[in-house]
Amino acid sequence: MNAPHIPLPPCAAPGAPSPVRKTGRTLRWGVVGTGNIAAKVTEDIARLEDAVLQCVSSRNEASAVEFADQFGVASAVFDKPRAPGYTQLVEDPEVDVVYVAAPQAQHYEISRAALLAGKNVLCEKSLTTNAREAEDLIGIASTRGLFLMEGVWTRFLPCVNRIWEILASGELGDIQWVQADLGLPNGPGTGSRRSGAETGAGALLDLTVYPLTLAVGALGFPEGVTAVGAGTGAGIDQQNALLLTYPSGAAAQLMSSLLSLGTRTATFSGTKGWLRTGAPLHNPVELTIAPFLRDQRVERFPQVGNGYTYELREATRCIQSGLPESPTMSWDHSLQTMRLFDDARTQMGVRYTNDGVTLRPTARR
Ligand SMILES: NC(=O)c1ccc[n+]([C@@H]2O[C@H](COP(=O)([O-])OP(=O)(O)OC[C@H]3O[C@@H](n4cnc5c(N)ncnc54)[C@H](OP(=O)(O)O)[C@@H]3O)[C@@H](O)[C@H]2O)c1
Repeated sequence: MNAPHIPLPPCAAPGAPSPVRKTGRTLRWGVVGTGNIAAKVTEDIARLEDAVLQCVSSRNEASAVEFADQFGVASAVFDKPRAPGYTQLVEDPEVDVVYVAAPQAQHYEISRAALLAGKNVLCEKSLTTNAREAEDLIGIASTRGLFLMEGVWTRFLPCVNRIWEILASGELGDIQWVQADLGLPNGPGTGSRRSGAETGAGALLDLTVYPLTLAVGALGFPEGVTAVGAGTGAGIDQQNALLLTYPSGAAAQLMSSLLSLGTRTATFSGTKGWLRTGAPLHNPVELTIAPFLRDQRVERFPQVGNGYTYELREATRCIQSGLPESPTMSWDHSLQTMRLFDDARTQMGVRYTNDGVTLRPTARR
């Protein structure tokens, strides 16, 4: 038997209403950034019955205005001398929750500003570039009773939660081995986050978040990690291999690559059979289940919107009911992830610009 390590969110429970259905008061969203993921998630925010797109911020006026026009966002703000767009957004009294869709290296600074302005925060993965920054954000959210969540959307998908249900049923016996690969080549148009130590780029923070989430869901956080990385000379890991080890003898082998296209699937091997996700493993819509000496079966799962509606429903539900953190994407899991990544980066020799920055003390406001 494998007890679930990631609690089931209400939006992914069997028979749950569509994630776009309202669960309480309307929340007014502010979106920081106008890049690739900001567009996809904003499309899903617009689908929620209890969401209003209140404000978007960009570094430049044209992007802010274009984004606001495209998605029907009420106001657009942008960098002005001594007033970055995001600071104007977080100070907007009409904004309840800030969605941070900037590159990794900006997550800390923008989320911190939002929390200090009294805003709830949904921040893209990885929460920060290092554990130090994550601890600081969590401390601020905790002290001020504000919602803070890392947007690991995979955790909220019905298909992924079905994996935990199957593993807990004992049908596949004890899970001894997880193997997951997320190989997505770094081609043109893939965004600023994939190059440069100053943006917190690399396969670890960009991709490994997902295979790690699946290993954690099945086996929990490991006792140890062994990491091997291949870089570009630019100080980041373009590819990495992680071996997670557990006191029981179980192990997980995770491969993430910005250089090569992988099968992008995860396999959970148990003493009585195996289960494999469809591709891509961070957004699967089907599972293949193969109990030993019995017929394989495939289970399929419908998805609403671009797939972000589920994490958005959970963030909305938590804020509406005054919960500062989601049990499904807890602060502790974000922190343990960042500590594991710090360890892996030390082994790979990857150091980000943010690592050398002294964090400012937070005055109470
Ligand atoms: N959940 C998911 O499925 C998913 C998928 C992809 C990426 N992500 C995460 O989302 C974040 C953004 O990734 P992305 O693919 O959207 O990247 P992207 O296309 O490069 O967009 C990032 C945006 O952030 C803004 N930004 C603010 N400060 C910046 C700076 N100093 N340098 C560059 N851009 C800056 C820019 O908007 P303006 O030009 O308007 O200021 C830029 O368009 C990353 O943390 C990544 O890990 C999540």
